[in-house]
Amino acid sequence: MPSVNDWLGLSGARVLVAGAGGIGSACIKEFVAAGASVLAVDRDDSRLAALGPGAATERLDLTTTEGCDDAVAAAQDRLGGLDVLVHSIGVNHRVPILETADEDWNRILEINLTSAFRLGRAAGRVMVEAGFGRQIYCSSVSSILAHPDHGPYAASKGGINQLVRVMAREWASRGVTVNAIAPGYVETELTRTHLDRPGVREHYTSMVPAGRLGTVNDLTGPVLYLASRQAAFVTGHVLYVDGGRTLV
Ligand SMILES: NC(=O)c1ccc[n+]([C@@H]2O[C@H](COP(=O)([O-])OP(=O)(O)OC[C@H]3O[C@@H](n4cnc5c(N)ncnc54)[C@H](O)[C@@H]3O)[C@@H](O)[C@H]2O)c1
Repeated sequence: MPSVNDWLGLSGARVLVAGAGGIGSACIKEFVAAGASVLAVDRDDSRLAALGPGAATERLDLTTTEGCDDAVAAAQDRLGGLDVLVHSIGVNHRVPILETADEDWNRILEINLTSAFRLGRAAGRVMVEAGFGRQIYCSSVSSILAHPDHGPYAASKGGINQLVRVMAREWASRGVTVNAIAPGYVETELTRTHLDRPGVREHYTSMVPAGRLGTVNDLTGPVLYLASRQAAFVTGHVLYVDGGRTLV
């Protein structure tokens, strides 16, 4: 009976994970456990330091073209190539549209969406040339649900869905698949302050048919599957990992 790791075929895969926060760090742990070589990139040293041994790290700001190009170059240099890209950086700022400043719109779009374009483009060049690659992006249920106070965040995640579809189509004949996972609410640094407000956690939980919020461990299986050899014919998908939140 083959082990799960044999089935995934990720042993020796060279994986770049952008964002070592709650979701990114959980994925890094599982990629390392599956035998992959991992480079973790984040702008925050403390996030990288918290990873412990197992993954190589590089502190880079991914809001610039140089930062994204450097991340891919570092993966090639330190891992010997690049097979898998996971984009797991993102920020939110919960205010109504009428109170959203230009700077907040620009900052959120730049971090959530433009970095995905720039990093995907840099990784795509390497993967298309190699004739193989897997790219996985973190979308959100906000990409299709109209949560109030989520204007720029929702726009950035809707943009991710379409970016994924176009990249998937352009690169499908070159052995490169591009997909997204779209989590519902998961407790991480991104959401904790909001969820800790009186009644908020209970309110969001009540809207999930599965009866609970997600955990980072709910997301690692879907990400590793999309990165695996089993998902070779799966491309251009947004996989909602939300306990049924988008059904209601
Ligand atoms: N947590 C949730 O409920 C949830 C739900 C849906 C989607 N997502 C998405 O999943 C992804 C990961 O979210 P998370 O919950 O792990 O958040 P997180 O805040 O725990 O991690 C995000 C990481 O991105 C890094 N980062 C931010 N800007 C950066 C930049 N310019 N350059 C390099 N690194 C940068 C941060 O330092 C942080 O480590 C995001 O795209 C988020 O929108 C999260």
